[in-house]
Amino acid sequence: MTPDTLQWLYPPNKRKLFTDRKAVLKQLDYNVRQIEDGKGNDLVLIGLRKIGKTLVLKEFMYRLLKSNGRCVPAYIDLECMGLEPKNFAFTYVGQILHWFNSRGADMPIGIGERDQIYSELATIGDSDLIGYVSKMATLDDGKIIHAALNFPELLANKTNTNLIIIFDEFQKITEISKDVIPLFRSVLQTQSRTNYVAAGSAIHTLEKIFKEPESPLFLHFSIIPIKPFTRDDTRQLIKKTLGTIPDNISNRIFQLSFGHPFYISAIAEKLNRFHKIDNLPLTPVLVDQAFFTETLNPDGNIYNICAYMFKESFSGIRKESIYKTILKHLAKTGNGSATEIAKKTYIDTAVAAVYLTRLLHTDLIYKKDHKYYFKDSVFRCWILYTFEGIVLDNYPDSKIIEELVGQYREKFESAAIESGLGFESRVRELLRLFDGQEVIISNAAIELPSVVSVEPWIFDEIEVDAFAKGSSNWLVECKYRQRQTTVKDLQKLLDKKKIVEKKEGIQIDKLWVISKEGFKLNAVNFANENGILISDIDELNKIAKKLKFRRFG
Ligand SMILES: Nc1ncnc2c1ncn2[C@@H]1O[C@H](COP(=O)(O)OP(=O)(O)OP(=O)(O)O)[C@@H](O)[C@H]1O
Ligand SMILES: [Mg+2]
Repeated sequence: MTPDTLQWLYPPNKRKLFTDRKAVLKQLDYNVRQIEDGKGNDLVLIGLRKIGKTLVLKEFMYRLLKSNGRCVPAYIDLECMGLEPKNFAFTYVGQILHWFNSRGADMPIGIGERDQIYSELATIGDSDLIGYVSKMATLDDGKIIHAALNFPELLANKTNTNLIIIFDEFQKITEISKDVIPLFRSVLQTQSRTNYVAAGSAIHTLEKIFKEPESPLFLHFSIIPIKPFTRDDTRQLIKKTLGTIPDNISNRIFQLSFGHPFYISAIAEKLNRFHKIDNLPLTPVLVDQAFFTETLNPDGNIYNICAYMFKESFSGIRKESIYKTILKHLAKTGNGSATEIAKKTYIDTAVAAVYLTRLLHTDLIYKKDHKYYFKDSVFRCWILYTFEGIVLDNYPDSKIIEELVGQYREKFESAAIESGLGFESRVRELLRLFDGQEVIISNAAIELPSVVSVEPWIFDEIEVDAFAKGSSNWLVECKYRQRQTTVKDLQKLLDKKKIVEKKEGIQIDKLWVISKEGFKLNAVNFANENGILISDIDELNKIAKKLKFRRFG
């Protein structure tokens, strides 16, 4: 690998900003080792728009290329590729050849053209490969896709390498032909040296492809959810733009952005401009101003991404105004059932139900226990105000900001609490203070371990809120929902313990479950029988007090 590998795709200034994603990268890295042992998996990263999927892929490729191992990545962005069958087939083969020969060092130019393909083939110098590609030109549309999808395995076999095909915006594959997914599956099953890492933002479509039993790709890929940042990661990312800043500033950015890295970066950059160029004092109020001008001024980055998401969701859709009415109402109330929404918007209940179902396909909202919610709270904020016609200039009056902040607090902070976002990361902060103290948990005196690291633990779709490593290793779950914790919840944690122990190769010594609404009686008995520590908020607050940590609400 040359020192400037991937400069054209992932320049050093972008790389410097890359923050966290340790758990995801660890999983990707583990998979590389499995691939080298012939036991690799195919993986797909799924997450909200602009949450950082592509950046994780780039960082992964960069590290992989730097390691100089046997696995060669090829980055295929389906968003930027012609998807007409012949065009796709030759561009795909051209890209794979280019990545194979250049290992990311050179920018791909003229990819898929005859000259490019044959000069790359000449570099490899294998006559079977040349024959295979020459024959491709004679095939019809269906066969040529098949041949192209088969090509990486052939290349890998001939060169004794492993290829990792990285498909970005994977959902676009369905535009190549109507039976491309079953075709892809049949090819995939015959390949052992070729593995796939996919990513995409069309959550609904991707979940259909990978999660529904009737889909040919069901269970073929392990899903890695890409989540918002924690409070700590947020601080790390801001530090890269603003330098070291007081906790109250980074906490405010975390609250307003809901840990979404694109929003964090946008707020931090605006704040930097206000502070360093306009010489305004760095206060939480300035953070509010940065957030609202980014979100509600048409020049702002957050405004533009929200407008883009909105436009993209409704391109080609009729009766946009009904969707707008429903979204506007939902933005105001935060959540609602079809009946509630219908009543408040004067739309017939059956009609509202149909439109809400269609809205679920746009990835803007989700449904839980018969109620609908926005997936992205910042987008909700944008809808709420822009649909009311509120547009800010770059330096809005402080009174306006004050008013917006007041409303935002009231409407949106409950969303953050509901999602448990702040709660989990605060519990992790508390865990970091563990250092041999004696406290009461589950009504008994417990000596806390000295911890070395505390992180969320994620593998496939299995998540644990905190994994604390130290003089003893703990797994901790936070239950922040409006119901008591059950035996089933505790059983799940026991199952996760086994998985963590297997994957990490260490013993977990303690399980601790914190539940805001407490525990069902049989869950208390189950916890006692299985040695699981359990605490309600009161007990948690007593521990927080002893460790001089601020109270949990
Ligand atoms: N790990 C990270 N560290 C630093 N910044 C990040 C990180 N992840 C995302 N960002 C910020 O968010 C932006 C969007 O990231 P990226 O393009 O990877 O998202 P995406 O999920 O691929 O988006 P899309 O849905 O448009 O495909 C980045 O340009 C960067 O500013
Ligand atoms: Mg992307």
